[in-house]
Amino acid sequence: MSRQFRRAGPGDIESLLKIDPVAEKDSCRREYIVRAVRAQECWVVCKADDPGVPLGYGCLDRSFFGEWFIPLVVVSSANRRSGVGRQIVSGLEHHVCAGKIFSSTNTSNLPMRQLLTNLGYRHSGTVENLDPGDPELIFVKFLSQARIDRDGF
Ligand SMILES: CC(C)(COP(=O)(O)OP(=O)(O)OC[C@H]1O[C@@H](n2cnc3c(N)ncnc32)[C@H](O)[C@@H]1OP(=O)(O)O)[C@@H](O)C(=O)NCCC(=O)NCCS
Repeated sequence: MSRQFRRAGPGDIESLLKIDPVAEKDSCRREYIVRAVRAQECWVVCKADDPGVPLGYGCLDRSFFGEWFIPLVVVSSANRRSGVGRQIVSGLEHHVCAGKIFSSTNTSNLPMRQLLTNLGYRHSGTVENLDPGDPELIFVKFLSQARIDRDGF
């Protein structure tokens, strides 16, 4: 299936809220999505022939000690395990103007840990006491000089 990666716009917000099961119950997540879209820090993957319907979204910001950071990646449950998450993370990497990018996830989140490991991220620390009994694992990926040269950063 051919898919496109593009920046989310205000017209995507309703769809993003539906994709994300957490947004249904958590007003902080809803507010976060709206803020990220307005700040132009949110990207989506859609089918190329249906570009108005996001299959998943991811955010990229500088909230981690000023470093490039992926705080969130969510793929709709109907579209998981078909490469959408991988496409989102890889797409976000192309918007990084530095030699490294960070992300994080709970220890219990095996799909996200596996996704990051498969894309070349390595463990870069652990933060305790965020979610009780489920430490946050920090990941880093060192982006190749070739990629940085090619993309002009
Ligand atoms: C984590 C998440 C974004 C992965 O998205 P996805 O589109 O299903 O992932 P992909 O299909 O691109 O998978 C890429 C790789 O990740 C790993 N992976 C993804 N889902 C997995 C699962 N359920 N179990 C084990 N590995 C998994 C695999 O290594 C996979 O490669 P493979 O299919 O060639 O084996 C998705 O499960 C999700 O939205 N989860 C809920 C939100 C969340 O927890 N986000 C992460 C925290 S911010």
